Amino acid sequence: MTSYIVKKGEHYYPSDEMKKIAWIKDEKIYNQANKNPVKFWEGLAKEGIEWKSEWKKAYVEKLPYFEWFKGGKLNFSINCLDRWIKDKGNKIALIWVPEPVKEKTIKLTYKELYDKVCRFANVLKKQGVKKGDVVSIYLPMIPEALISMLACTRIGAIHSVVFSAFSADALKARIEDGKAKILVTSDGYYRKGEKEDLLAKAKQGARGTTVKKIIVVNRVGKKVSGSKFLDFNSELKKADNKYEPEIMNSEDILFVLYTSGTTGTPKGIIHDTGGYAVHAYWTTKYNFNLREKDIMWCTADVGWITGHTYAFYGPLLNGSTTLIYEGGPDFPDPGIWWKIIQDNNVNVLYTAPTAIRMFMKVDEKYIKKYKLDSLKILGTVGEPIDEDAWNWYLNKIGGGRCPIIDTWWQTETGGALINALPGIGPFIPTIAGKSFPGIKHIIVNEKGKEVKQGKIGELVQVSPFAPGMLHGIYKNPKRYLKTYWKRFKKYYDTSDGAYIDKQGNIRITGRTDDVMKVAGHRISTAELENAIASDKRVGECAIVPIPDKIKGEVPILFVVLKKGEGSVELEKQLIKHVDKKLGPTSRPSKIYFVKDLPKTRSGKIMRRILKALLIKEEPKGLMTLVNPKVVEEIKNILKSKI
Ligand code: WT7
Repeated sequence: MTSYIVKKGEHYYPSDEMKKIAWIKDEKIYNQANKNPVKFWEGLAKEGIEWKSEWKKAYVEKLPYFEWFKGGKLNFSINCLDRWIKDKGNKIALIWVPEPVKEKTIKLTYKELYDKVCRFANVLKKQGVKKGDVVSIYLPMIPEALISMLACTRIGAIHSVVFSAFSADALKARIEDGKAKILVTSDGYYRKGEKEDLLAKAKQGARGTTVKKIIVVNRVGKKVSGSKFLDFNSELKKADNKYEPEIMNSEDILFVLYTSGTTGTPKGIIHDTGGYAVHAYWTTKYNFNLREKDIMWCTADVGWITGHTYAFYGPLLNGSTTLIYEGGPDFPDPGIWWKIIQDNNVNVLYTAPTAIRMFMKVDEKYIKKYKLDSLKILGTVGEPIDEDAWNWYLNKIGGGRCPIIDTWWQTETGGALINALPGIGPFIPTIAGKSFPGIKHIIVNEKGKEVKQGKIGELVQVSPFAPGMLHGIYKNPKRYLKTYWKRFKKYYDTSDGAYIDKQGNIRITGRTDDVMKVAGHRISTAELENAIASDKRVGECAIVPIPDKIKGEVPILFVVLKKGEGSVELEKQLIKHVDKKLGPTSRPSKIYFVKDLPKTRSGKIMRRILKALLIKEEPKGLMTLVNPKVVEEIKNILKSKI
């Protein structure tokens, strides 16, 4: 069996077989690209993307804003579909594996996908959607998610996808920010054999907003009636299968995707058309060594940026095949992922460390049952991967044959930015690698001065900024400026800590702001605290993230009630309240009812002290507290509850 890696000394490098098939095998690319990054990206833009007319200026920077391929004209859906139709219309673009085992896997060719996208673009147009309008999409992992997103890009409308596990309230906030008139959703989806009722949440979320029509995909056979609702598939059938794509400027907005920051409200990250297309195309191709015949499975949900860029757009921009799966990783049993890989000959698997850690706990027989020989590249993303999980992934899933590409990036960056390339390596556990060719990151101290190699500091990006980077925060330029450009002015502030090792590879050490990564999901301490504090019984509260063996981190909640005592029942109700406000992904994993929280004289809650108590370290800085006695009280509560 082909091995794509070899061990040299302590580390893994690409084998000769890997070098044979690798797009990039010569390290010189880094130096060449960095000599003139703008020229490098211009070359990639010309080669990878079909433009209607070329840009006037490749890169314009006036911080905090910068634009790529200014004046260039293109349509995104042409790049994902039209250009493949002629020669490989019958090639499979999308493989969809539904959760119910009795349902068949659906395969859509490029031609079929094109046809559906054109039809849905006409459906949207009939409903009055125009270039620049926002369309909200609240869908699970089903083909209609891709169809509706691509239809938006064909019209030049901005899609705003909301994660299907988010609550009605979270959906509402996102609809209101974008003022969407159309919401695309489904009557439900399958999860662990059950029908999840998505429509109830969709209806509630859309109530009282700008949404005029809700287009519903019939997934679980619910009856939907009312003048506000349209049936996705009957509308599709009625519509014309041709749609002349709207030619857009490179700098026009392609989509908005909300993510959490350090304040109570999520921010709508704006991505533009040309720069994102170029970035998504090339990072998919180079990072996963994606070849035309390859089948890529990125397990991320479309509600996240990883789903946008690597489950949908990257593989299609490359004319390859992407696989998506509706269900969870452990239904009907924890062998399902490996069965899917075997049945569909998946070549690239891209997933999150949390999933890997979950599978590590499961009986190995569920993996051994299946042949995973088709795999060539394994990717991880979203949170730091520890050495154990890395080795397990390499050996148990990759059979010790496949490189692990640990990609660092963010919702804001649109695509991956720091990782080892498959044909170059090295592949080292916990180390992401080098910045993508043509991109530069450095490590600085609080004052923005570059620190010495090996020292931990703040990870920042240096101009020219990557083409896929955000274009702003939707309707909130002040927050954009403050979040990313205030601390270091000329550098993009990632809010991650990192250091550079002797070989020049970057090791990410984690967020340095009040943002948690729970099972790879990005959760804001402030947003979660706000949601909890909105329960009438809660006086004050504090969220403290602590390490977790599977999820990486989990939030622990401390609550001071306005009156009365805490109880198991109240705990349940508070969890329910979080589900309603944000969704189950944000649930605190434990709740402690306390009389008071440790505070400074100015009233600041000292979460640091709570954290020390939780992880059984001696808390420091008690002298600054206005209420030091509370520390003993909380210690006792923790003792009695564990
Ligand atoms: C944050 C961004 C990247 C798309 C999915 C998550 C953390 C991401 C890694 C990695 C260590 C990582 C960072 C980053 N992160 N990738 N390979 N190693 N940490 O996007 O939800 O916007 O989260 O995820 O802390 O800032 P996101």
